[in-house]
Amino acid sequence: MSQPKGYVDPKYLQIIGNQLNHIKQRSYALMQIQPGHKVLDLGCGPGTDTLPLAAMVGVNGQVIGADYDEVMIAEAEQRAEQTGVNAWVRHQCVDAMSLPLATDYFDSCRSERLFQHLPNPALALAEMTRVTKPSGWVVVADTDWGSLSTDSDEADIERRLARFLAESSLHNGYSGRKLYRLFKQQNLADISFEVFPVATPSYALARQGTQAERIEQEALKAGVITAKELHRWQTSLEQADSEGVYFCSVNVMMFAGRKH
Ligand SMILES: C[S@@+](CC[C@H](N)C(=O)[O-])C[C@H]1O[C@@H](n2cnc3c(N)ncnc32)[C@H](O)[C@@H]1O
Repeated sequence: MSQPKGYVDPKYLQIIGNQLNHIKQRSYALMQIQPGHKVLDLGCGPGTDTLPLAAMVGVNGQVIGADYDEVMIAEAEQRAEQTGVNAWVRHQCVDAMSLPLATDYFDSCRSERLFQHLPNPALALAEMTRVTKPSGWVVVADTDWGSLSTDSDEADIERRLARFLAESSLHNGYSGRKLYRLFKQQNLADISFEVFPVATPSYALARQGTQAERIEQEALKAGVITAKELHRWQTSLEQADSEGVYFCSVNVMMFAGRKH
């Protein structure tokens, strides 16, 4: 079976999740979680966040993790069982744009790096808002892939590849910058926003985090770059890496708003 646009596996999410722990912690704080709360993690992946959320709400609370990938859900369920929180944590296979969940149910909802994958992110935020209780917090963090920048003398190739990643390899690659508009459209109150730069001098980690191998091959196939340009691009990065001067960054944006 072919994989959906921008597919990532549980191992990738674990490696990247470790780099983004400060962003995760900040999203939990913005949710204003109390023991006994009911919380939703939409696009939960393999349960990277549902398990820490389970510890925060405690045995009298409830955590629901929702993701449309059966492999992620199976992994998340297994982790919940191993951690001993499965009595109050449930992972469900659902489409983020149509949630089979009750209206005004959750004290707070979060979603991290999901919206970039969605053909209709407005619908997902409307669903998150619907299932949140009045006065509850909705928190969404996502990447603005338009801000991806890599130091290289091959600036033209760099821009073409970054643009291809944002516009063609994902449904909603500029997601981060679009969240403010979406939050306003949902009429959320007390909207706040924060921008988190994610930067690395590790060529290996950046290649993994940006799925460079796949993007470069897709860009080549789409005629965005030629084989010669790809070779020049990779050579320039490998040289920077060998000289210890490789550097790459991208921004993640986080928005929080309260349901009226
Ligand atoms: C980049 S991962 C982020 C996972 C997790 N939030 C984290 O921070 O590690 C995006 C997740 O969104 C899920 N996803 C993509 N499209 C979805 C959809 N339409 N409905 C539900 N989940 C979706 C993917 O299966 C994947 O687990």
